[in-house]
Amino acid sequence: MVGMVLPTPTLSTDRLLLRPFRDGDAAALFAMHGNAHVLRYWDSPPWTEPSRAQRFLAACRQMADEGTGARVAMERVEDGSFVGWCSLSRWNPDHRTASLGYCLDAPGWGHGYATEAARAVLSWAFDTLDLNRVQAETDTRNVASARVLEKLGFVREGTLREDCVVNGDVSDSWVFGLLSREWQPSVDGPRPAH
Ligand SMILES: CC(C)(COP(=O)(O)OP(=O)(O)OC[C@H]1O[C@@H](n2cnc3c(N)ncnc32)[C@H](O)[C@@H]1OP(=O)(O)O)[C@@H](O)C(=O)NCCC(=O)NCCS
Repeated sequence: MVGMVLPTPTLSTDRLLLRPFRDGDAAALFAMHGNAHVLRYWDSPPWTEPSRAQRFLAACRQMADEGTGARVAMERVEDGSFVGWCSLSRWNPDHRTASLGYCLDAPGWGHGYATEAARAVLSWAFDTLDLNRVQAETDTRNVASARVLEKLGFVREGTLREDCVVNGDVSDSWVFGLLSREWQPSVDGPRPAH
């Protein structure tokens, strides 16, 4: 069922601006999603056609229009550079559940940006969507992503055996869950941007 429009928020953290995607993000998006190293644990292959970025931007708009979630572009406050994206998707108001996802381009790795962005998106989501549970999945080899989820308070709940074929390799996935009663927003959490 198609729900009501869910406006994608603009959020700011200490080092990042999280904002709706714009057409001007297409080139940076294509560069990131076309990079096989960035996508080495992703459940679909790297993009080869620049038009894929337009489809992605349309899918972001559709998600907002149908009210099923929000995907924000992450931009470094310091220099305005594109860092990646973070999403809250598959929002199900009946079950009060949603999924968390993120992808950062390689230059942004190792600075705590994924954790900082996801924490802001989770704060927004728990505050505004009456969520009870957020789920995330990672390839079991993706140690950095699993660590991000653990830092956010997610609990590793199980293994989906041979869940995906990633670049020809059959791979297992971990399922992580975070319940609202376990969620601990950081003291210096995100502020609504203006
Ligand atoms: C996974 C990803 C989101 C991590 O982003 P990031 O901004 O570097 O993450 P953070 O800096 O917030 O945290 C990463 C944590 O993993 C740890 N880590 C990174 N690589 C590691 C490794 N090979 N082994 C062990 N720990 C590792 C870091 O030390 C850090 O933990 P710490 O704060 O306790 O030191 C980013 O690499 C990415 O987008 N990769 C490509 C797309 C992807 O895989 N997305 C997730 C799909 S589920």
